[in-house]
This record gives sequence, C-alpha cells and structure tokens, in this order.
Amino acid sequence: MKHFKLIYFSKKEKVQLNISKIKKTEILSNDDVGVKRASDIIKAGGLVALPTETVYGLGADATNPKAIDLIYKTKGRPSINPLIIHVFDNNYVFEIADKNKLAEDLSSKFWPGPLTLILNKKNNSKLKIAKNALADLSTIAVRVPAHPVFRNLLKKCNLPIACPSANFSGKLTTTRFEDVLSSFSGRIDAIIDGGPCPIGVESTIIKIKNQKISILRPGKITEEGLKACNYSLQKKENNKNIIAPGQLTSHYRPNTPLRLNVKKPKKNELLLSFGPLPKGTTGISLSEVFDLNEAAMNLYSSLADLDELALINNNDAIAINTIPNSGIGIAINDRLKRACS
Ligand code: TXA
Ligand code: MG
Repeated sequence: MKHFKLIYFSKKEKVQLNISKIKKTEILSNDDVGVKRASDIIKAGGLVALPTETVYGLGADATNPKAIDLIYKTKGRPSINPLIIHVFDNNYVFEIADKNKLAEDLSSKFWPGPLTLILNKKNNSKLKIAKNALADLSTIAVRVPAHPVFRNLLKKCNLPIACPSANFSGKLTTTRFEDVLSSFSGRIDAIIDGGPCPIGVESTIIKIKNQKISILRPGKITEEGLKACNYSLQKKENNKNIIAPGQLTSHYRPNTPLRLNVKKPKKNELLLSFGPLPKGTTGISLSEVFDLNEAAMNLYSSLADLDELALINNNDAIAINTIPNSGIGIAINDRLKRACS
C-alpha cells in the first residue's frame, strides 16, 4: 500500500470543505460482495468513490437531492457546476433525456464507453433526477460507462448515479485507488478498490444542438475519430453561459508549478518525459515508447507523484516534454494547459 499524500488547503478551503469532520470510510473489494455493499450505501443516500474506465468518480444516487448536496460539499464544488449522470443503458438515457437521431447513433457507436452527451432534459420523466445535480439547467450530461465494476453497481442499484471525478474541485483528478484513499478517507462512506483506470483522462463531452455536434471537452474519443465515422463537427462554441470546469481555464492543478514544452529541465526541476527519461534527470516517463494511450493512462498519477516529490525535495517546478497534439494527446495537452494556467 502506498503512503498517504500531502494535499495542501488554504484556510478558506478548509472552512469550505469542513475538513475537521471525520467519518469512517469502508474500503470495498471490486467483486460482487463489495459492489453489493456499495449499492446499499448509495441507495441509502451515501457517497462511494468508484473506478471508471476514464478516472475515479464520486458516486451518489442522482434522484436524491441530499446525496447530491453531499457531493458538492465534499468536493468543494460550486453548486452551479452540473454533474454527469451515469446510467446502465439507453433505456435509462432516453427516460431522462430527449431522444434524437444523432444521440441514438452516437450511443450505438460509443456506449458503453468514455463519451458524455449533453442532451435536452426530458420534462415529463418518471425518473426524477435531482434538480441540484443539473444545476437547474434544461440540458443534462449523460454517460453509459464501460467499466465492469461500475456497470455491476449500476445494475445492482437500478438507479442513475451522479458521478463527478473523485478529486477536490480544481485539484488533480485521480486515476489510482491510493490517490482516492489519501484524498477522501474519512470524508466519504466507501471507496471501491478497482486498481488503476485504463484510459486515464476524463470522457469526451459532446454537445448535440440542432443535429450538429461540438466537442466541449476532448478525451479518448477524438475529433479525428468522429470525422472518420462521417460526423461533421461544429466549431468550438464560445458560450459564456456554460459553466463547466472542464471549460474553465484553470483546473486540474498540482501544488507545484508546471512548465510545458520543455526539452531539458532546469537545475532544480523535475521532469515528466514523453519517451525514456534522459540520464541524469530526476522524474517520471509518461511512456518510454512514445505511446500516447500509455501517456494518458499515466498522466494524473505521474503528476501526483512528482508533485509530492517536489514538495519533499523543494523543487522549483515540474518540467514537461512536448506531447504530440494528436489523438488522445489533444486531451493530455488540454489538461496540462489548464493545470498550469
Ligand atoms: O470521465 C468522466 O466523465 C468522469 C468519470 C467519473 O465518469 N467524470 C467527470 O465528471 O469528469 P466531472 O464532474 O469532473 O466533469 C463533468 C463536466 C464538468 O465540466 C461539468 O461542468 C460538465 O461536465 N457538465 C455537466 N453537465 C453539463 C451540461 N448540462 N452542459 C455542459 N456541461 C456540463
Ligand atoms: Mg472533474
């Protein structure tokens, strides 16, 4: 088991997060027994951190406003920032969101998987999603995840699960059980140990409007991939009304400053390399064989480890090699840019 990590909070953040209040956190296995317990906790209005194929999430019953409120409080997330509703299949999707041809088409190609669709909320739905989960918007973000543990949980619960990434608002996203544990132990009801998340960056968010699609957040499903399936994409919207941290400039931030597109680190810097770590440098390689998928998988955990090392060693910054801006590299560069702005 890894040691606990240091996460620093300002005085204001400590008050917002009510950091002194401790509760017992159950560590659950990812088998049927653990998932059954997680399902009982969620049905009773509790919070469970769980693995998804993209990143770890913090899940709660999406129909329970009190449980949703707990998510916002625990993450220190502004209540105007809506959550993604995760469901088992399309029967749930089109019970809570309006059907349209493009959504059905995309869903058959990419679900279950790392895609979130922003659709119009269905008005007369029998399944009542808590208003605070959607920050009172008329649209709803939905995703059908592929991770077998999450799918088992959705099946056992028979509920839609609101599930933002399992990190404090604005801080680094987590893709390892150990990082979730060090952030949320004592603050939520349970954590399912599902090992590392295979994709490593959050889902691609796509908005469908007037039968056109636009990418609001890049991820594993890329513009190239969508174009190859003959979808035409709208230019990026510059709509100030959508408040989404994935769209805010500053996000996913470690404590140590980052320096991007670096060939050679300075004397007191650590290096996050793409390719083998050069001799004589201290750091971590995202992928020794220049593989962008491997780099995405290692991104947040490497940043967390280097951040901790920098705090201990008193390094000035984490220097990062140039990452090719293609495929999932677009999502990596997007997160890195936000992490240092
Ligand atoms: O891969 C993922 O999507 C992960 C895993 C846990 O499923 N979840 C995740 O959730 O990244 P979160 O809350 O960290 O990011 C969701 C993003 C936020 O930027 C939020 O503002 C945006 O989705 N969002 C939610 N509802 C929206 C809506 N109706 N319109 C536009 N953006 C929306
Ligand atoms: Mg997030």
